[in-house]
Parts: sequence; structure tokens; C-alpha cells
Amino acid sequence: MDKRPIGIFDSGVGGLTVAHAVRQIMPSENIIYFGDTAHLPYGDKSAELITQYSIKIIEFLLDRGVKAILIACNSASSSAYDYLKEYFGNKTIIFDVITPVIEYTVNRNFNKVGVIGTKRTIASGIYEKLLTEKVPGMEVVSIATPLLVPMIEEGFIYDDVSNQIIRTYLSNPALKKIEALILGCTHYPIIRNQISKFFDFSVEIIDSSKVVSLAVREAFASNGLLNNSTSGHDRFFVSDYTEYFGKIAKLFFEKDIRLEKVNIWQ
Ligand code: DGL
Repeated sequence: MDKRPIGIFDSGVGGLTVAHAVRQIMPSENIIYFGDTAHLPYGDKSAELITQYSIKIIEFLLDRGVKAILIACNSASSSAYDYLKEYFGNKTIIFDVITPVIEYTVNRNFNKVGVIGTKRTIASGIYEKLLTEKVPGMEVVSIATPLLVPMIEEGFIYDDVSNQIIRTYLSNPALKKIEALILGCTHYPIIRNQISKFFDFSVEIIDSSKVVSLAVREAFASNGLLNNSTSGHDRFFVSDYTEYFGKIAKLFFEKDIRLEKVNIWQ
């Protein structure tokens, strides 16, 4: 039994999809969330810069006494996960959003899988690499869809603008005959139904939030880190206020969210 919070971070609202799943799967866990809205989008930044931001954020979260870190961002997971594990050593346990999705996908017998993500995640080639290492015959097609994050952060969801952008990206002929589409960015579950509708609901949409939360729960259970006490509390930090962050957080957590702005960069 360990009452310390879990630290979750992303560049913006995307990681809230993961934080929300953590809350549902582990209702007693305390959560400290950090949205690096001042540096959004991560997907256009270099791996070095994303790594530097991630180090600062993890240090901030560790100062707040977290028992584990969940990198709720594919761009940071693909650029920095291995480095961060090494850098922080035994100071904390670090989870990424990609490993559990790979585990889930390789057990599903797919022949052809699509991946959409930010430019950084797709350029890393991490999904193809890890999937085909485990299932050599699997065809993996990855497509960068960089407009989706700014679109979502600006609140363009379930409207004509987002329908048009989603349609343009997903009409890519390379995605023909996919059996599953991995949402390789934690922002994308927010538009999951629009994506699913594009494929007439006939393609399995794989979203990291639930599989990742289940993996964290399993690791907590086997390391004596679960919090089984009362219902969990949340704190939300951002590096810059954005109008939409509060709205999305309220939607996910079904209550008014107090955003705390912090400058951790000096
Ligand atoms: N939600 C993030 C991801 O999973 C970051 C997107 C961005 O800031 O570009 O990649």
C-alpha cells in the first residue's frame, strides 16, 4: 500500500486521456498531472529538446513525491524513454505509452496495422521496429498526422474542420486494408469516434490509455505500490494557461479543475 501520487505528463491535453483511464482503472490513486502547454506541440521538436523538457518535468514531479512516472506522450516516449530510464535510474519507476501497446498488438494476429502519430513519433520508426521484431510478417504502415494535435488543442473536434482534416489524412492509400489502427498520439482518443467512423467502424482502433493503465496497475500490484485507501485526488499543473485545457480536463474528470501554472524552466 503506497499513498504517494503517480506523476503523469504530456505536452498538453493528450495525456489527460491516459490520466482519465488511470483514474477509472485505479480509482484510489492520487494523480499529479503536468501539461507542458508552453512547449506544445512536442511532435515538431527534436528528440534532444523533448528529452530536456522531460527531464525537467520528471524532476518537478519527483519533488512532489510521486512514486512513479507515466510518460503519457508518444513523442516523448519514442524520443526519450530509454534515456530517461537510465538517467533517473532507481530514483523512480518510469512507464511509457508505447511498450504496452506493442504487447497488446502483437497478440492480436493482425496482418496489416496502421499507425498515426506526430512527426517525431513517426520519424522514430519505433512502432514498425518493435512490432516487426516480434511479428516479422506483420505489415506496419506509419503516417504522420501533425495537424491533429493543434486542431484538438484549439478545440476543433466533431465539426467540419476536423472531419475534413481527418478524412484527408486517413484517405492515404497506404492505409488500405489495415485491420487495426494504432493511435500513436495520446491526443487522438479525443477524436476516436471520428476516426472509427471514417473506417465505417470496421477497423480496430487501438488507443494506449486503457492498456497502459492496466500495465501500470499490474506493475504497482507486483511491486507493492498500489493505493487501496480512499478515493484518489488529482492536481493539474500546466506551464502555460490555455483556454481549452481546463475545458477538456473538466470533461474527462467531470468536475471543475483548478489549473496551477508553474514555471519550471528557469
Ligand atoms: N500527445 C503527445 C503524443 O502522444 C504529444 C503531441 C504533441 O505535442 O505534438 O505524441
